[in-house]
Amino acid sequence: MEQTFIMIKPDGVQRGLVGEIISRFEKKGFSLKGLKLINVDRPFAEKHYADLSAKPFFNGLVEYIISGPVVAMVWEGKNVVVTGRKIIGATNPAESAPGTIRGDFAIDIGRNVIHGSDAVESARKEIALWFPEGIVTWQSSAH
Ligand code: CMP
Repeated sequence: MEQTFIMIKPDGVQRGLVGEIISRFEKKGFSLKGLKLINVDRPFAEKHYADLSAKPFFNGLVEYIISGPVVAMVWEGKNVVVTGRKIIGATNPAESAPGTIRGDFAIDIGRNVIHGSDAVESARKEIALWFPEGIVTWQSSAH
């Protein structure tokens, strides 16, 4: 089953949007497979955004991501990568439709609340980077 990596960025955590965001993915029907609140350091943030290292906003982006705790998640379900990005909305909140997370909760591309993997292959890499310990398997345990 397809999986994606979703990160609630420091502004989303500080603004108390964690529950709202999780609720939107749950209500859509996706399954939560991994969840943790963590501080990441500069080398880790640079690794996550390595593809953007030549961009003029790269340093500011890294500063933003290490400015406070983030919520890292793995979500699973049919077409979760593409559908997850629809739930999130366009990268620039000026272009994200109302009803999407960024459309409803963000106004600045440099403070856009949430990240979602852009393809199945990047999801695989990002899940491996953020959850090296692996994720839970959904099975009942006998006590
Ligand atoms: P994200 O989905 O995490 O993927 C890359 C991030 O880079 C993006 O969300 C934004 O937070 C950030 N970003 C993209 N374009 C710009 C820009 N022009 N200025 C500042 N940040 C940007």
